[in-house]
Amino acid sequence: EKGGYDHFMLKEIYEQPRSIYDSMRGRIYPLDGKVQLGGLVEYSEKLRNANRIIIVACGTSWHAGLVGEYLIEEFARLPVEVEYASEFRYRNPIINENDIVIAISQSGETADTMAAIQLAKEKGATLLGICNVVGSSIPRLTHGGAYTHAGPEIGVASTKAFTAQVTVLTLMALYIAQIKGTISQSKLISLLTELETIPSLVEETLKTNDQIIQIASELQDSRNCIFLGRGTGFPVALEGALKLKEISYIHAEGYPAAEMKHGPIALIDEEMPVIVIATKNSSYEKVISNIQEVKARKGKVVAIVTEGDVDVKDMADYSIEIPHADEAFLPLLATIPLQLISYHIAVMRGCNVDQPRNLAKSVTVE
Ligand code: F6R
Repeated sequence: EKGGYDHFMLKEIYEQPRSIYDSMRGRIYPLDGKVQLGGLVEYSEKLRNANRIIIVACGTSWHAGLVGEYLIEEFARLPVEVEYASEFRYRNPIINENDIVIAISQSGETADTMAAIQLAKEKGATLLGICNVVGSSIPRLTHGGAYTHAGPEIGVASTKAFTAQVTVLTLMALYIAQIKGTISQSKLISLLTELETIPSLVEETLKTNDQIIQIASELQDSRNCIFLGRGTGFPVALEGALKLKEISYIHAEGYPAAEMKHGPIALIDEEMPVIVIATKNSSYEKVISNIQEVKARKGKVVAIVTEGDVDVKDMADYSIEIPHADEAFLPLLATIPLQLISYHIAVMRGCNVDQPRNLAKSVTVE
């Protein structure tokens, strides 16, 4: 049932070209520059007039929400807040009929996320779900939404569900932009045309696996690890750190790269691996200076770079090349090597990758 893979997690990592494709199938029309999301059509008027969007989720799904915040604000010019469901529900939050609340959940059963949307429903908000398990509780509680269609995820550490959530959030951002008229037709055409190629770029990215095994063997005895990124690379860094801690039990932290100098830089020495998302996009130059700060303190840098990069490659101890893509799609590619690094380190440390200690696939109690 693991399809020849040693673990479900590895199988699910390798399924991503397919699962990402499935999450956009039938929803994008690149030639016409059109996004169609059946489960949102009824709420297009609400979306057009919404004051803001509040995303509620936990764990990895919350990280997907952070990517969604960047994309929705960028393309649809609508303010977005991303909330931990557990904090939101107990804060007497300010919500009204003009708010759209999006719940993101792989299982569709997470207790805190359910309670958060129940509360939002009582206050009259429009509820949308982004869930993977069809017919689960959250899709039944929400007014509309879109399934991720990633297929069953068995490994406790979420991998393909995350990239599917990010894909659906990308579609939602473009859909809202389309109905609000905040994106030009030509931009929509070019983004959708590129989005269609993402599954094959993910396939390319998976070819870094052999190189990642080498890097993992160098890092496997680390006691700590820092992940850095800027822009959408920041939620990717958070997700990379969560993956490493949950399956390898190595203490890891994700930070926006520029926050380093406000504290965490004190941790850097030759024992500290720092994994940096340093792809060629708007924050490239800034990330380079962040890498220099780490190198000056003898940190060990593993950089995720764009194919053909030379500058970061010169500075970093190890670099992993991923294909070039529009900044909006960066999380879908940059996440892959981080999943593989965590996976291989955990295997090398003899950890139970598919069922890490103390964790459950679905958290149905608060
Ligand atoms: C991490 C992980 C958890 C879940 C979180 C939310 O790999 O699996 O952090 O993301 O428990 O679960 P869902 O998405 O089912 O609501």
